[in-house]
Amino acid sequence: MIKTKKEKTVTSSESCKQFSGKRIFVCGKGGSGKSSIVALMANVLHNERYKVMVLDGDASNPGGLARLMFGLKRGPKPLIELFGGREKVECPVDNPAPLTRLNDTIPVTEKNIEVTEIPSEYFIEKDEIILFQVGKIKTACEGCDGPMSKVTRDFIVTGDWVTLIDVEAGIEHFGRGVEKNIDIILVVVDPTFESFLIAEKVFHFCKELGKEMAWTILNKVQSEEMESVMIDELKKKKTGIIGTVHYDSGIGKTGLMGTALGKCEALEEVKCIVETLETECFGSTGDD
Ligand SMILES: Nc1ncnc2c1ncn2[C@@H]1O[C@H](COP(=O)(O)OP(=O)(O)OP(=O)(O)O)[C@@H](O)[C@H]1O
Ligand SMILES: [Mg+2]
Repeated sequence: MIKTKKEKTVTSSESCKQFSGKRIFVCGKGGSGKSSIVALMANVLHNERYKVMVLDGDASNPGGLARLMFGLKRGPKPLIELFGGREKVECPVDNPAPLTRLNDTIPVTEKNIEVTEIPSEYFIEKDEIILFQVGKIKTACEGCDGPMSKVTRDFIVTGDWVTLIDVEAGIEHFGRGVEKNIDIILVVVDPTFESFLIAEKVFHFCKELGKEMAWTILNKVQSEEMESVMIDELKKKKTGIIGTVHYDSGIGKTGLMGTALGKCEALEEVKCIVETLETECFGSTGDD
C-alpha cells in the first residue's frame, strides 16, 4: 500500500497546485534525454510540493528510471502483470478497448486507479516520489510491446498526483494512440537534425489529436550558436519551445557510469522550464 509522508502532510492549498491530476508525457528521439528530463522534473515537482508519480513506459530500455532516479539496478514489478499480463492486455492497435482490472469490466479510464489498491511490489517509493513501470521486453520472440503501451495509455490514478510518463524513443506510441489520455506533451530535442524532424512529426500528430498543450525542450545544448540554430530550425517547423537544458557534464557522467542523477546544474534549468510550463498551461504559477 502506498502511503507517503507527503500524503499525510498535504494541505488543501498544496493539493490545488496546477499540475495536480495531470499526466505529462515526455517523448522524443532516442537518446535525446527523455528519461533524464523526467527524473529531473520529478525532483523539481517534488520540491514544489507536488505528489509525484513517474510511469516508466519504455518497454525496450532495460535500466531506465529506477537507476536514474534511485540508483537501483532493478525496477518494480511490471504493472502489466497486475492487469493480467499479455494474456489479458492486448496492443491498442489490435484491440483499442480500454484497460480493465482483472475480474472487472469497468474500464480503468472510467474508474481510475486508487494508489492504495496497488500491492507494494509494483512500485518503488523513495523520497516521496513513486515509480511504476509498465513492463519490459524480457525474452526473444515474446511479442511487441503494444500491450505495455495500453497500460501506459490507461493507467490513470485518482487524486492530485502529477504523473510523468517516460516512453520509448521515436513516434510509434502515436501510432498506437498512447497520447489519448495525456494532458501535456513535451518533446525532448537534442542538437541533431533527426530530433528536429521527430519534433515536427510529434506536433503534426498533436494537431491531429487536438492536443494543444505540446512543447519542445532543447537538451544537451553546448553553445549559444547551437541554441540559436535549434531555435531557428524548430521555429521553421512551428514547434513551440518551453526552455533549454544545457549540456551538463554531471548528467553525462551519470550516463557513462550508470549511476543515479542526483543534484546537477541542469536542475535549475528544469525548474525554470516547469515554471514556464505552468504559466503557459494555466496562465499563472501555482504560487499566485
Ligand atoms: N543535458 C544533458 N547533458 C549531458 N548529458 C545528457 C543530458 N541529457 C541526457 N544526457 C545523456 O544522454 C544520454 C541519453 O540520456 P537519456 O537516457 O536520458 O535519453 P533518452 O532519450 O531517455 O534515451 P532512450 O531513447 O534510450 O530512452 C545519457 O548518457 C545521459 O546521461
Ligand atoms: Mg529513456
